[in-house]
Amino acid sequence: MPAAPKPEILAAFEAAKGFMPRHEGLALYEAAVEAGRLGLPLLEVGTYCGRSTILLADAARAAGVPALTVDHHRGSEEQQPGWDYHDPETVDPEVGLMDTLPTFRRTLYRAGLEDHVIALVGRSPQVARVWNTPLGLVFIDGGHTDEHANADYEGWAPHVAQDGLLVIHDVFPDPEDEFTGQAPYRVYLRALRSGEFTEVSAADSLRVLRRTRARSESSR
Ligand SMILES: C[S@@+](CC[C@H](N)C(=O)[O-])C[C@H]1O[C@@H](n2cnc3c(N)ncnc32)[C@H](O)[C@@H]1O
Repeated sequence: MPAAPKPEILAAFEAAKGFMPRHEGLALYEAAVEAGRLGLPLLEVGTYCGRSTILLADAARAAGVPALTVDHHRGSEEQQPGWDYHDPETVDPEVGLMDTLPTFRRTLYRAGLEDHVIALVGRSPQVARVWNTPLGLVFIDGGHTDEHANADYEGWAPHVAQDGLLVIHDVFPDPEDEFTGQAPYRVYLRALRSGEFTEVSAADSLRVLRRTRARSESSR
């Protein structure tokens, strides 16, 4: 039986603002529970309003490890005003820019998970540059340009411990299916090509890879 979140956690996930469908959330949760067994922190790139963070945090709580989530909270390209994924409620009227941090904090508070999450507010590559701790799981769900998706991979994949999991969201092999670009798909291919990761499972656009080979000198 795959690990599944308790009904109240699933309800909090479904009530939270965000884009991840339930079946992908369940796959993410299963991966997080498995990775939690390594006893290392679980890290997400792309917090938005905390929908997927709920699942990582619950799995982290059960494993006794922290969940970390990185976001500058100013939104991705496709979430800006005028784009399909824009939500006017996420704009801070005082500064006129998106700010998803307050909603994220409410999401975690309501789910009772505040104590299990460390929020890192900043640009993913800048945070990655000062990061030096092995991770049980890295979940990449940040910016969808090639620049951002590659920087997330380069910054965080090296920290995935042996047997740890690299989870990538919005992997669309068919250009007909994608709404926000195929950069995550290209990063997924890059991870497989590196020879360091092996695919474990797929739930629609959510791909779970395992580190099966140590980081090689040539990929540094
Ligand atoms: C698709 S949303 C994340 C959705 C979230 N995981 C969920 O399930 O609800 C992408 C997020 O990545 C953040 N983001 C994009 N590029 C970033 C970067 N370079 N550094 C930090 N955060 C970034 C955006 O601010 C946005 O909140």
